[in-house]
Amino acid sequence: MSDSATATRPRVLTGDTPTGRLHLGHWVGSIENRLELQEDHDCFFLLANMHAFTTRSEDADEIRADTLEIVRDWLAAGIDPNRSCVVLQTEVPAIAELTWFFAMLVPFNRVMRNPTLKTEIDSKGLGDKYSFGFPMYAVGQCADILAFRPVYVPVGEDQVAHIEMCREIARKFNQVFCGVDPKTEDEDYEAAGGVFPIPQAKVGRVARLVGCDGKQKMSKSLNNAIFLSDTPKQVKKKMGKIYTGRQSPDEPGVIEGNPLFQYVDAFIHDEERVAELKRRYEAGDNLGDGHVKVEVADAINELLEPMRQRRAEYEGPDGDDLVIDIIREGTKRANDLAEETLWKAKEAMHLDFFPRDLGLGS
Ligand code: TRP
Repeated sequence: MSDSATATRPRVLTGDTPTGRLHLGHWVGSIENRLELQEDHDCFFLLANMHAFTTRSEDADEIRADTLEIVRDWLAAGIDPNRSCVVLQTEVPAIAELTWFFAMLVPFNRVMRNPTLKTEIDSKGLGDKYSFGFPMYAVGQCADILAFRPVYVPVGEDQVAHIEMCREIARKFNQVFCGVDPKTEDEDYEAAGGVFPIPQAKVGRVARLVGCDGKQKMSKSLNNAIFLSDTPKQVKKKMGKIYTGRQSPDEPGVIEGNPLFQYVDAFIHDEERVAELKRRYEAGDNLGDGHVKVEVADAINELLEPMRQRRAEYEGPDGDDLVIDIIREGTKRANDLAEETLWKAKEAMHLDFFPRDLGLGS
């Protein structure tokens, strides 16, 4: 293993837990940023399949199908397997090992105060019956990230609390095991001798896209999501459901806080058209919700059409094999890097008794 795995462009790591298909909330919250970063960074996109087991261990079959489905969504969205690595978490053992090391650097109560975990416990109705592994995933996520020593982590707003904990753990590791001064600026930790950079979250341009119920945040479980893989008809139908409370096209409408106009802003890119729609809507100038919905649905369909075409390639009879090949190749390159990181961490922890080669790399 050489340092060449790291002597390249600045790196990006992010991931998704396989829970089903990706939707427009993921698109504006994170995927758009991933595509932009892919242009000039080495990107690693992690299939967090281990995390899926923390709440759904009885659904191993579904988790496997969801894992492949997410890759199809990524590829459809424009993630390019020739430039970026698709990584299967359960085949990167360094992540599990780093999770242990990191778990000893963070107080248990600090993990349990993580607001994202609390929200999940509520929204999934886990009560006090969740597995030990459930809160452990938050520490595991720090290892997912730091195994790749990235500069950026493109995520939706709901993940920022996790990234904050990851930054705390990275600082702590560098201080405890590499002797880095706690007063060091975040961007200087590596130069000061730390193993880990302090990675930054990069949140998308729309932090919280409302679902097509017009009320709650878009989410698969709330049944209000427009999926990247929806057909043109499904998109039209779902857009039609958004309720604004406005009665007629001649009634002066309100833009601020109007769910329909969040979509106008998010998906119609012609600024003049957006200004015109808003002016007429506010003036009650014969512009009905129905008309705005059709324009938004058209804009969304224009965005999704190339995705549908790319997706078709991976949905044929060889689709699963193609997807698994992409995962295999990405995971090999990921292991080159993750093993290198683990070795650096072990050196810092005086655990460098002898190097190993598990034969996982490329
Ligand atoms: N917890 C993230 C989610 O549910 C998925 C995830 C796992 C992730 N590991 C990660 C995101 C590392 C960013 C970085 O969406």
